[in-house]
Amino acid sequence: MDITGNAFVTGGGDGIGKASCLVLAKEGAKGILVADINLKAAEETVAEATAASTNPSFRAEAIYLDVSDEDSVKKAVARMVESFGRIDYCVHCAGTGITGSRPVDEAKFDDLKGSLAIHVHGTFLITSLVSAAMKKQDLATVDSAHPERGGTRGSIVILGSYASLFPVRYMVPYTAAKHAVLAIAKTAAMESAAHNVRVNCICPGWTDTPMLRHSMEVYEGMTADSLLETIPINRLCSSYDVADAALFFCSPRSSYVTGLAYLVDGGMALTMKT
Ligand SMILES: NC(=O)c1ccc[n+]([C@@H]2O[C@H](COP(=O)([O-])OP(=O)(O)OC[C@H]3O[C@@H](n4cnc5c(N)ncnc54)[C@H](O)[C@@H]3O)[C@@H](O)[C@H]2O)c1
Repeated sequence: MDITGNAFVTGGGDGIGKASCLVLAKEGAKGILVADINLKAAEETVAEATAASTNPSFRAEAIYLDVSDEDSVKKAVARMVESFGRIDYCVHCAGTGITGSRPVDEAKFDDLKGSLAIHVHGTFLITSLVSAAMKKQDLATVDSAHPERGGTRGSIVILGSYASLFPVRYMVPYTAAKHAVLAIAKTAAMESAAHNVRVNCICPGWTDTPMLRHSMEVYEGMTADSLLETIPINRLCSSYDVADAALFFCSPRSSYVTGLAYLVDGGMALTMKT
């Protein structure tokens, strides 16, 4: 996949973020800053990524990050630039799931505010500050064998959701936030293209991570079997299905792709009733 640079991964302590770190390390990344609100989990990812790495110069570090806090995001982005010199890839996975399943007339305002803080404020802060850092970086060649493919200053991959594109019943706080996340990704992609920075949004379906397992506990009637009824591929998404998509968007192999909402949903969208 021609992964040779430095990655900044938010939410890298678990789930999709952790899988992204391990896949990036295995594919040849030079460095990874694993950023998470759970520092211990981030440190465990650093150890596993180091064991999985294939680049002889590989180096990884962990940092505490709360994506909803501006100072915390500023510190993590500054640490990435200081310690690794350059942000080639940013994979923004930090997020939280739902607190329950409620129709809109019973939905809680506090749940909406919480979801907006983590997903919308977080995505805004990460995209804005990482874009600013990438804009200042030197232009790197995409593909020396094909100079017409131009140069890159970096690639940002944002975790949206199937809920970025479709309404999901009884999850209005999460669905509203994830629609806004996609809006940030698309706007940033349009504006940053001129600076050779790409921004894409991955929209996974039901992915087997700690977040989904928690959702099954609090969403009335949600079980693995009930979810499978909506998934043509007939299995839950693996965090590695999503990490492989992230790898492609980081890689120069996707040099002409920006502003995409990329479903990794096992065909779920095909089952939408019209
Ligand atoms: N699991 C799914 O079914 C699914 C589906 C679609 C989209 N997503 C999205 O993918 C992303 C990753 O989800 P996941 O399933 O891997 O979740 P997860 O709960 O397994 O992992 C999320 C990680 O983010 C960290 N985190 C939580 N709040 C944070 C904060 N404020 N600042 C920094 N780190 C924080 C957690 O400590 C954890 O390590 C999220 O944006 C989620 O909304 C998940």
